[in-house]
Amino acid sequence: DTSQIELYKQKVGDLGASLVTPGMRVGLGSGSTAACVVRALGRRWQEEGLRFIGVPTSVDTAHLAESFGIELTTLGKCPELDLDIDGADEVTRQGYNLIKGLGGALLREKIVRYAAKKFVVVVDERKMVDQLGDHTPVPVEVTPFGWEATAKHLEKIGANIDIRLKKDSKEFFLTDGSNMILDCNFGLITDPVKLENEINQIVGVMENGLFIHCTNEVLIAGNDGLHHLK
Ligand code: A5P
Repeated sequence: DTSQIELYKQKVGDLGASLVTPGMRVGLGSGSTAACVVRALGRRWQEEGLRFIGVPTSVDTAHLAESFGIELTTLGKCPELDLDIDGADEVTRQGYNLIKGLGGALLREKIVRYAAKKFVVVVDERKMVDQLGDHTPVPVEVTPFGWEATAKHLEKIGANIDIRLKKDSKEFFLTDGSNMILDCNFGLITDPVKLENEINQIVGVMENGLFIHCTNEVLIAGNDGLHHLK
């Protein structure tokens, strides 16, 4: 049930926050599980006097971190990070490949991930899958100009598309960078590297939610406790 899931998120958030040591440069992820990491870091900032510098992956995360007084910077001032901690929508049991972006922050999340030496993913056990595409579409961030043409190209490579709308509204959802999201269902994904290349070759696509061969560690909370997979 939901309160159990909330508890898992808090536990995995605490474990994620425990990986941060004084002076680190840290990417701060987006979504509800990454928010648990930020809150736990906020507590360490205030109670232990832990000091580090964070680069947020979304406006929401920046606001949350600031509410604890956590010091933030940009990749412009701090282009190399020691660690990035973020959530995910699906994680493969083998290889730790991901789908991210149901929260809409995928472009900034991917940029921050590739600025960091190490990438740690925090999830509850519902996110673990054998193959990507199990229960989540691949979010594709596209520029609004001519998005209909971009969508046609995505359909040609096999996407079944839902245009992401704002909650309880008929207006298009827009990312922090003012792009649209096309949620692309490709069914079960057998070759994620090939699919990622195909998506990124389409003009109008800014980024996609596949994070392949780039996760170093996964923290999982579930019925049988906490796991730290390396
Ligand atoms: C945000 O764009 C996403 O990539 C999130 O990291 C992902 O959706 C996981 O979010 P939850 O932790 O809220 O499930």
